[in-house]
Amino acid sequence: MTMPIKSICCLGAGYVGGPTMAMIAAKCPHIKVTVADMNEQRVAAWNSDTLPVYEPGLDAIVASALGRNLHFTTDIRSAIAGADLIFVSVGTPTKSYGIGAGRAADLRYIESAARLIAEVSEGHKIIVEKSTIPVKTATAIKSILAANSPNGATFQVLSNPEFLAEGTAVEDLQSPDRILIGGEITPEGNAAVEALVSVYANWIPRERILTTNLWSSELSKLVANAFLAQRISSINSISALCEATGADVDEVARAIGMDSRIGPKFLKASVGFGGSCFQKDLLNLVYLCESFNLPQVAKYWRQVVQLNDWQKSRFVEKIVRTLYNTVNGKRIAILGFAFKKDTNDTRESPAIQVCRDLLHERAHLAIYDPRVSAETIHQDLIAAGVSPELIATNMEICSDPYTAIKGAHALATLTEWDEFRTLDLPRVYGLMLKPAFVFDGRAVLSLESLVAHGFEAFVIGKGL
Ligand code: NAD
Ligand code: UDX
Repeated sequence: MTMPIKSICCLGAGYVGGPTMAMIAAKCPHIKVTVADMNEQRVAAWNSDTLPVYEPGLDAIVASALGRNLHFTTDIRSAIAGADLIFVSVGTPTKSYGIGAGRAADLRYIESAARLIAEVSEGHKIIVEKSTIPVKTATAIKSILAANSPNGATFQVLSNPEFLAEGTAVEDLQSPDRILIGGEITPEGNAAVEALVSVYANWIPRERILTTNLWSSELSKLVANAFLAQRISSINSISALCEATGADVDEVARAIGMDSRIGPKFLKASVGFGGSCFQKDLLNLVYLCESFNLPQVAKYWRQVVQLNDWQKSRFVEKIVRTLYNTVNGKRIAILGFAFKKDTNDTRESPAIQVCRDLLHERAHLAIYDPRVSAETIHQDLIAAGVSPELIATNMEICSDPYTAIKGAHALATLTEWDEFRTLDLPRVYGLMLKPAFVFDGRAVLSLESLVAHGFEAFVIGKGL
């Protein structure tokens, strides 16, 4: 018989835990949803009018359930104790030390969450891996739970990876292409899967809820991100060829995307993909392949990351070479710092590498992003190895694009914010030093229009 879920807890109030649980609470008013995190500042922000995550439409979803059946708390133990089903949505960053450093997933937050769940739980609970983890992690979680439960609690472990993309999280959660749930193929495992299916079935058609064994579900998440990232590296590799030959990468993307076997999505050439997931998950896949003694497969997927690194560095080289081989002391307006539009997230943003390299070339950067705070930009660049002294002397954060552009030798667009598509080009031209150079890393501006307005323009993937 399916166990009715009355109370859910989620460990981790981040980009995934917060929005996902807000959607469950909004769609399931009969279920109490508690999101628990030790980060007091984050929890306070979820309980305030200024959410810690910027996502279009998220404020309304949170407001509809907050204080009714949606709660954010730092009291992790009580949240676990009171829940029938516990989502684990903690970070799984790339490991930066020891065995597998730079590739393997760091599972310390998963492990500590599992140990705490084991310690606090009583009765029967369903544990759901929401975080992206290497295949077979459920085995580790099960063994930690089994070995550390003083109260004799029993558990079923499920895999339920999240496929939302930032910037469109609300839409993605409201109407996902699919929900994937993996479980043990036993009567108890099937019952746990059914319990989670019945939560999602409150708003998602059953035919879009896919159930598989645990390992297929765990692996599918890494594979989905690897395929998506591969498409971007593929089109970015072709962007370089387009620039060299006079072809236009958007025209090529349209031409190939109309083949229904290829499809039109995820073929937008860019300065490189960023975000907290693609690189981390690709490296994790590479590490897994190496661990299972499949070096050729590892090499194949590693190339997707290498191409992405090359795309970012060739963009910087293009700027330096075009500006007569030196950017020392030159003001360069940087438009956009987030890893994509409609988010305040900067994790692995290509802007970090581009700005770091330009600062190391001693450029003077004037950065504008509509959603990213000055504090975040400073922290990201310091973490990327830029000295605080260089930041103090060679970088300023501007509150509008035209202030950043004023007196600049060059402008570079690094995020595809909609507002950059409608820049007042005559005004921009008038504010800049001449020749006025534009480097559009997101193809948000029209090359023809830039040239017509007098700019020396480079748009990614567009040959002149
Ligand atoms: P995040 O860093 O924004 O949030 C993780 C949160 O977990 C942090 O606030 C941290 O304080 C908290 N935490 C750590 N240990 C905890 C514990 N024991 N108990 C309670 N809270 C704890 O990370 P995120 O972007 O939300 O990603 C979470 C997972 O989801 C990762 O595995 C990621 O790969 C995956 N994922 C992310 C996205 C995305 O778009 N960001 C999409 C799909 C999947
Ligand atoms: C990704 C996956 O899309 C999502 O399913 C998964 O759950 C988490 O990882 P996210 O990283 O939030 O989501 O954003 P996404 O839209 O995938 O973009 C990732 C990066 O690729 C961004 O830097 C974006 O600008 C870039 N990108 C995307 C391109 O350069 N070209 C494209 O055609 C699409």
